[in-house]
Amino acid sequence: MSVKSLVSISDYSKEKILQILEKASAFEKNPNQKILDGKVVATLFFEPSTRTRLSFETAVNRLGGRVIGFADASTTSGTKGETLKDTIKMVSNYVDLIVMRNPIEGAARYASEVASVPVVNAGDGANQHPTQTMLDLYSIQKTQGKLDNLKICMVGDLKYGRTVHSLLMAMSHFNPTFSFIAPDELKMPDEYKMFCKKNGIRYEEHSELSENNIADADILYMTRVQKERFTDLFEYEKVKNIYILKNSLLEHTKANMKILHPLPRVNEIEQEVDENEKAYYFEQARNGVFARQAVICDLLGL
Ligand code: CP
Repeated sequence: MSVKSLVSISDYSKEKILQILEKASAFEKNPNQKILDGKVVATLFFEPSTRTRLSFETAVNRLGGRVIGFADASTTSGTKGETLKDTIKMVSNYVDLIVMRNPIEGAARYASEVASVPVVNAGDGANQHPTQTMLDLYSIQKTQGKLDNLKICMVGDLKYGRTVHSLLMAMSHFNPTFSFIAPDELKMPDEYKMFCKKNGIRYEEHSELSENNIADADILYMTRVQKERFTDLFEYEKVKNIYILKNSLLEHTKANMKILHPLPRVNEIEQEVDENEKAYYFEQARNGVFARQAVICDLLGL
């Protein structure tokens, strides 16, 4: 059975992205409605999460729906050997929509192929995190008043950071210029640079987080070094504190510039920056509720 799912941000056209952003804005004005009355949503988290799971669950609760699921896969029959396929087929029997995070790249696509209800990818390994991208786009649009012709500076773990991969693809609709700041070990993968070249998107690469390299950014998109993706923790230790954003680095940035971060933050943004008027990452996380309300209602045809 083929149903509509959101697995990759490339599942959305530019028109669909703009439509979802408009819905998110409407939900921000009125987040408490009974649109999901009688609907049940499953949140299946095979990997830890704070924001994604709780904002999805908040989104459903505020719309009058109900949530079942797990935040710790070790409590499920997966530990007895039940396959992902069987798990998804079972949960499809119970709910109207499945939200799943899984450490394996491609797991969400596979789940969407075996499920009889829509599946939302809440992050699959280092691959994609499309609802994070929708809230990132919503945050960019809210803070910049537009999505077109912006300079987006992506900093940190561009190799394993699924949020930068999804965001890069989504922004391709809006004539961006990218600056990728990463150490050699964590550079933007070639497939995404190829994607930029194929789509005529300008990008530059730097290895230093300096005043000069962020001076013309409209958005400074910081990321955490993804410890959980390293097979060799010695390699992680080498790069874990490679970039630390401080107020002193922000003095000559543009007045409209905002700092985004998908969070969680470890050491890459000093706490002092939280009070800087350019810090937007906590509001960004709040926007996740409205963006996810919009995605859920769209997938359920409501
Ligand atoms: N941004 C994000 O995915 O956060 P969580 O891992 O806490 O869900």
